[in-house]
Amino acid sequence: MKNIVILISGRGSNMSSLVQACAQQRWNARICAVISNRADAAGLAFAQAQGIPAHVIAHRDFSSREAFDAALADCIDRHAPDIVALAGFMRILTDGFVQRFGGRLVNIHPSLLPAFTGLHTHRRAIEAGCKVAGATVHFVTATLDHGPIIAQAVVPVLPGDDEGTLAARVLEREHVLYPRAIGWLVNDLLRVESGIVTVVDGESQLLL
Ligand code: GRF
Repeated sequence: MKNIVILISGRGSNMSSLVQACAQQRWNARICAVISNRADAAGLAFAQAQGIPAHVIAHRDFSSREAFDAALADCIDRHAPDIVALAGFMRILTDGFVQRFGGRLVNIHPSLLPAFTGLHTHRRAIEAGCKVAGATVHFVTATLDHGPIIAQAVVPVLPGDDEGTLAARVLEREHVLYPRAIGWLVNDLLRVESGIVTVVDGESQLLL
């Protein structure tokens, strides 16, 4: 049985997609905690309603990034996680934190990495004239929005799209992509060699 801890900062729709997939697909895992750096994160209420321990570690209560990350890491470790999933967690993590959870720490980012790291990915994709956009699930490394790519989902950028319409199209795919990727981790199906991730006996790493 794998223990999964999910970190959020807001709405938490990716977190809820993982909670639902864990139950519906009967993963050999449990979501043992949801942790937010913001007390007003809407996703906390969903977690509590599911009976999942929900914690707030407010970054504003700490004088440095290192101190916040240390408190966050201690809270995570109390749940003995095999997998730590970032799901809209809007904090840059220190190298020490990333190393502590290395190989167990994954993120979903709303672009086709390595394009458009950082914020405002959909607006930037539209402004660049991209014809496709998407989302990436990747292992987290010390460099923001980098790290071995586990899976990607691709959607078209349609004429007339704005940031909102494109974000909604991508998000719908995120809710399929992230459970698929975490399901592979739960079942120990991922191999990483020279920074390239492959799946043993799994579904496609490309979601079209
Ligand atoms: C998602 O688009 C995710 O890819 C990005 O932040 C957003 C979080 O949305 N990292 P939600 O909180 O999961 O609804």
